[in-house]
Amino acid sequence: MTLVVDEAPAGGPAPEAPIEAFTVTLIIRRFDPDVDSEPRWQDFDVQMFATDRILDALHKIKWEQDGSLTFRRSCAHGICGSDAMRINGRNRLACKTLIKDLDITKPIYVEAIKGLPLEKDLIVDMDPFFESFREVQPFLQSNTAPPKDKERIQSVADRARFDDTTKCILCAACTSSCPVFWTDGQYFGPAAIVNAHRFIFDSRDEAASTRLDILNDKEGVWRCRTTFNCTDACPRGIQVTQAIAEVKQAIMRGKP
Ligand code: SF4
Ligand code: FES
Repeated sequence: MTLVVDEAPAGGPAPEAPIEAFTVTLIIRRFDPDVDSEPRWQDFDVQMFATDRILDALHKIKWEQDGSLTFRRSCAHGICGSDAMRINGRNRLACKTLIKDLDITKPIYVEAIKGLPLEKDLIVDMDPFFESFREVQPFLQSNTAPPKDKERIQSVADRARFDDTTKCILCAACTSSCPVFWTDGQYFGPAAIVNAHRFIFDSRDEAASTRLDILNDKEGVWRCRTTFNCTDACPRGIQVTQAIAEVKQAIMRGKP
């Protein structure tokens, strides 16, 4: 199907070439706890443009076909971390996944992230994820007062030491792509370790040893099997596996 999306005003510039719309099939794993005993797959055909994202397709389905379709989203621009989901078997943010980057000759499968309790359709219970996050004390702790009338000074090199792990948006794409987390919900998971790393390697923080003790637990960093699923899944490009390795080294050799 071809749609003309912009009519040129009389006397205005020549109209641009029409933008092609096409039909794409989304197969979504649905679950309504009030009705379903098991999740079920449901097909939806939607007219989309190549520049649309999976989030746009989900909105279109919800607004035009089935208002009961349930998913989380807030910013729609890759910042809030609320719309991580499995798209064609890979964890991604729906708002950062362009339809043109997927094979639209085949249906696109969309389902909730794995390893966390399924609540409805694409929504999981994030409480266990945030409990692990809170356990690593992800906030700056210092017993030493800052210099009078001054901020805590930090060199550019010291700031760079943990720059990568400051980018985390707590979307859970890493943790819910980890096979250890799937089989053992007790594992802290990559995201909690990333957020511990952010403070362990901050030169202004004085609670590194506390966090390293917490992560030296049997459900801590040693459960990591270095599968790199977490790094592949991270929409912020954080070197998650490397951050976990650095925390392991800090436990063995002390904070560098
Ligand atoms: S490390 Fe990446 S994938 Fe994991 S929660 Fe943070 S932003 Fe999401
Ligand atoms: S809706 Fe905020 S990251 Fe996608």
